[in-house]
Amino acid sequence: MSWLFDFWRSSIGGKVTMAITGLLLFGFVLAHLLGNLQLLAGPEKLNAYAKMLADTGALLWVARIGLLAVFVLHVVTAIRLARGNRAARPVAYAKEATVQATFASRSMVFSGLSLLVFVVYHLLHFTFGVTNPEHYARKGAGAGGHDVYAMVTQSFAVPAIAIAYAAFQIVLFLHLRHGMQSLAQTLGLNHGRYTPMIRTLSFLLAALIAGGNLLLALSVQLGLVEVAR
Ligand code: HEM
Repeated sequence: MSWLFDFWRSSIGGKVTMAITGLLLFGFVLAHLLGNLQLLAGPEKLNAYAKMLADTGALLWVARIGLLAVFVLHVVTAIRLARGNRAARPVAYAKEATVQATFASRSMVFSGLSLLVFVVYHLLHFTFGVTNPEHYARKGAGAGGHDVYAMVTQSFAVPAIAIAYAAFQIVLFLHLRHGMQSLAQTLGLNHGRYTPMIRTLSFLLAALIAGGNLLLALSVQLGLVEVAR
C-alpha cells in the first residue's frame, strides 16, 4: 500500500487523484441534478424518486460512504497541492504573470472551500434537519415519510434560502468550469487546436449544471412550482 501513498504524495499523483475524484464528484452533481429536476414534474414524481433512493437501503449507504471518501480525498489533496505550490515558491513573483491565469484559476481554493461551506449547510438543511427543522419535519410527515417535495418547496419559498442556494451556484459554475479545464490539462489534451474546444465544453457543462440547480433554487420564487401547504 505504501507505493500508493508515495504515488499520491508525488506531484503527478496528486494531479491524477484530483482528476479522478473530480470526475466522480462531477458524476454525482450531474446525477443529483437529474434526479432533483423531478421537482419541476410535481410532488408525485419527486417523492417517488426519493422513495426509490431510500428503498435501495444498504446500497445507498455504500454510495454515501464512497461519496464522502471521494470528497475528503479531493479536498485533502487540493490543500496538499496548494501548499506544495506555495512552498515551491516561497517568494512571490515581483510581477505576477497572470496573463493565462483566469479569475477562476486563481480562486480555485477559495471557490472549493466555499463549496465545502455550501455542502455542510446543505446537509444540515435537507439531510439532518438542523437549520430549518420545520421544513425537515414536512419530509417525514407526508407521502409515507418521503415528502421531499414539501420540504424543498417550503424551503425555497423563503427568499433568503432561495438566494443563498442561487448564489452558491455561481461559485459551483466557476469551480466546475476551471476543474474541467484542469482535468483536460492533466490528461494532456490542453494544447493547440483542442484548447478552444475544451474551454467551450467546460463552459457549457458547468453552465448546464449550475444553471439547472439555479432554476431549482428559484423555482418557487419564479412560480414554476407550487408550495406544498
Ligand atoms: C438547488 C439544488 C439542489 C437541491 C434542490 C438539492 C436537494 C437535495 C435534497 C432534497 C437532499 C436530501 C435527500 C434526502 O436525504 O432525502 C440532498 C442531499 C445532498 N445533496 Fe443536494 N440539492 C441541490 C444541490 C446540491 C449541490 C450543488 C451539491 C454538491 C455540490 C449537493 C450535494 C448533496 C449531498 C452530498 C447530499 C447528501 C446525499 C445523501 O447522503 O443522500 N446538492 N440534496
